[in-house]
Amino acid sequence: MTTAAKLPPTDSANSQVQVERKPFDVERIRRDFPILSRDVRGKKLVYLDNAATSQKPQVVIDALSRYYEEGNANVHRGVHFLSEHATGEHERARKLAQKFIRAAHAAEIVFVRGTTEAINLVAQTYGRANIGEGEEVLITAMEHHSNIVPWQLLCDEKRAKLRVAPINDNGELMLAEFERLLGPRTRIVALAHVSNALGTVNPLAKIIAMAHRKGIPVLVDGAQAVPHMKVDVQALDCDFYAFSSHKMFGPLGIGVLYGKTALLEAMPPYQGGGDMISSVTFEKTLYNKLPFKFEAGTPDVSGAIGMGVAIEYINQVGIENIAAYEQELLDHATHKISSIPGVRLIGTAKERAGVISFVLDGVHPHDIGTILDQEGIAVRTGHHCAQPIMQRFGIPATARASFALYNTKEDVDALARGILKVKEVFA
Ligand SMILES: Cc1ncc(COP(=O)(O)O)c(C=O)c1O
Repeated sequence: MTTAAKLPPTDSANSQVQVERKPFDVERIRRDFPILSRDVRGKKLVYLDNAATSQKPQVVIDALSRYYEEGNANVHRGVHFLSEHATGEHERARKLAQKFIRAAHAAEIVFVRGTTEAINLVAQTYGRANIGEGEEVLITAMEHHSNIVPWQLLCDEKRAKLRVAPINDNGELMLAEFERLLGPRTRIVALAHVSNALGTVNPLAKIIAMAHRKGIPVLVDGAQAVPHMKVDVQALDCDFYAFSSHKMFGPLGIGVLYGKTALLEAMPPYQGGGDMISSVTFEKTLYNKLPFKFEAGTPDVSGAIGMGVAIEYINQVGIENIAAYEQELLDHATHKISSIPGVRLIGTAKERAGVISFVLDGVHPHDIGTILDQEGIAVRTGHHCAQPIMQRFGIPATARASFALYNTKEDVDALARGILKVKEVFA
């Protein structure tokens, strides 16, 4: 077979991923993820650190190596076959991302390195252009550092003020307080769809409507939402939505900033360089159309293609099926882990997704993580890049188990046994 014949057609509407399976068949799904069959420290791997990064199905791994084996070329510049093909695949991935979050136009999908870069982009472009001295950025008390620090940098530069809407003891946003903080000086709201440290799902539609009634745009950090639930940016009516590929079974180093066309059009560019221009003279540069205005330099072509395949994988399994399965798993975990004497859950919101965070009487979370690791169980311990949440709950850290579509009730039971072992060691 020639190389050309092996490359999939770029305009193909057909999915490259064939995984027809209903009802939800977790054992088949597990077989799609090669790493899940490996041992760790002589034990079967129980991977419960999905909020940090998810594992990758074989189809994504294959797409990455296929790109480098058969399709590697730079995009948007070449007239030769490989460059045209790579460009087609790159733009196909953009369309997949567009449909995945139901954006109105592919041009509203800006490829970035991940959620962190997406938020920095908005802070440095929209923020710098629209937020001035004495004006305010409103975030919540449950944000990841990547939705705090970019706004602090902006506020320092502009002498603007960062306001923080509080959360209650369950880890839920206090909506009345939030609404009170939406004042005449508020220029943007930035908040998580799902909290990475607590699992809280924010009632976004309500929150966005509150902000819009006062003419304030809303940026949503969707890093912890997209692997777990259907996202429809048009139904939500959010102004910006950010997510990372690596948390939803795609490669590292690529993600998406969604923005409404009118906002993106009005924003100045983020970085300067190749691809983001339509013409350059020493006197003046004209910028490229959307989304390329925000994509300076050679993009991560393989990453975008891999993310597209990850989206196809999720589509094939069905995000609604994933959401329903994971809710059952989370209910099981909540019941099982919270009934262990000495365990206290941190984050008990009515609406949660993907995450169970806990502390254990008399044991530092780091020791929990170390002992669980000896059992082959990967959880995260620490402040989860959300130090203000730890301060809010008066604790230094938590242990966090976070789930994905390939986790099972047996994984949860292994975690519960592991916690009992921790208790034995510290008895
Ligand atoms: C809620 C949330 N926002 C933002 C991020 C940052 O994502 P990334 O490191 O992929 O840019 C994370 C990562 O853990 C997160 O959980």
